[in-house]
Parts: sequence; C-alpha cells; structure tokens
Amino acid sequence: MSTSTIGAVHPTAVKQVEQRVRALCERYAQKLPFHGWHHVSFVRDKATEFAHLNGSDVSVVETAALVHDVNYLVRRNSTAAAGSGLRRTILTDAHISPEVTNWIDALVDEAEMRTRHRDISLEAQALSDADTLFKALPVTPVVLAHKYLAENGVTLRELANKIVGEQRNVHDEGFYFYSPEAAANYSRWATANLELWQCIKESLDDPTVERLLTAVGP
Ligand SMILES: [Fe+2]
Repeated sequence: MSTSTIGAVHPTAVKQVEQRVRALCERYAQKLPFHGWHHVSFVRDKATEFAHLNGSDVSVVETAALVHDVNYLVRRNSTAAAGSGLRRTILTDAHISPEVTNWIDALVDEAEMRTRHRDISLEAQALSDADTLFKALPVTPVVLAHKYLAENGVTLRELANKIVGEQRNVHDEGFYFYSPEAAANYSRWATANLELWQCIKESLDDPTVERLLTAVGP
C-alpha cells in the first residue's frame, strides 16, 4: 500500500473529479438536500484524514469519497451500485485508468453500511469511517434527518428501521468504526445516535405519538 505522496490518481484528475461532482451537486441541489455537496465534501475531508492515518492510498480514497454517492443523482433512495455507470463515466472522463476506475467503483460498494464487514480493504475502511461519522454526528438527526426523508421519499419509521437495522450489528460487533482514532473520538456519539433511533422506533409504536406526527405533517 502506498504511503508516498504519489497515489494511484493524479492530483489533476482528483481536481477534475471534484469539479465535476461539485457542479452536479450544485445543479441538482434541490434533489439532494441530504446527499448534496455539503455531505460529499465532509466525507471527502474526513476520509482523506482517515486514509493518512491508516496508510492507504489517499488519492484513491479522496476520489472514491467524491463519487461515492452519485447514485442519488441517478435514482432516489438507491444503493451505491445504481451509481456505477455515472461514477465510471466521471472517473474515465478525468483520464483515470480502467484498473483504478474498477478499484474505486468496487471500494465504494465495499464501504457501504448495508453490507460492509470486518475485513474490508484499508481504502474502504477510510471511506466507511467518514461516511459513518456523518451518520453518527450529533447534529445529523437534528438538522439533517428530515432532509433525508424528503430526499428519499421515506417515512420516519422507515428511516428509523433502516438505521437501527443496518447499524446495530456493526456497532455491537465492534466495527462501527475501523480506525482506532475514529473509534476513540466518536464511539460515544455513535452509541447515543443509535440509542436515539431505537427510542424513535419505539415511540412510533405508541398510537398517541403516531397521531401527533400525523397532525404535525411531513
Ligand atoms: Fe455518503
């Protein structure tokens, strides 16, 4: 694994991918209140930090972070795989080789919360930790969760089920975060966040709460 400053993606190509993704996010900002440029740039910044810490290829992780959520431009409420065509087009147009394009596309899938496991590659770990941290930020349920509902056309119950269903096991089995630094700094937030969503799930089973939410509206 390269720890030198020369990675598998040339800095010019990283820049080109950044400009393309940013332009797409800004153009379709209305469609992406949750997964817009604010999300992509946060994940890029944190993934790059985690890649420096775990010695993986920073240029590959940075590029993967930039294209990791383009599926939401292709189809609402979709998995990473739905963005593969657009992702590959963006990478190829930036003159990234077919081998590195395959690598990046595969590692985006590898890092997905829904299916990730304990032994994913270091590059996927850096991307996963950044994307997971965004989910676990204490501010996310307060200022962003309702934007997720609007963007993806899902109900609060569906989102609560998704979060608890996808995150409980990785949390309990000890690979919520892969980086020891991320685990040390953010595990408390992750635990609090999961507990909050578990409580939200439970509260929705109370018919009086359900009536309250119906009265408040979407
Ligand atoms: Fe993401």
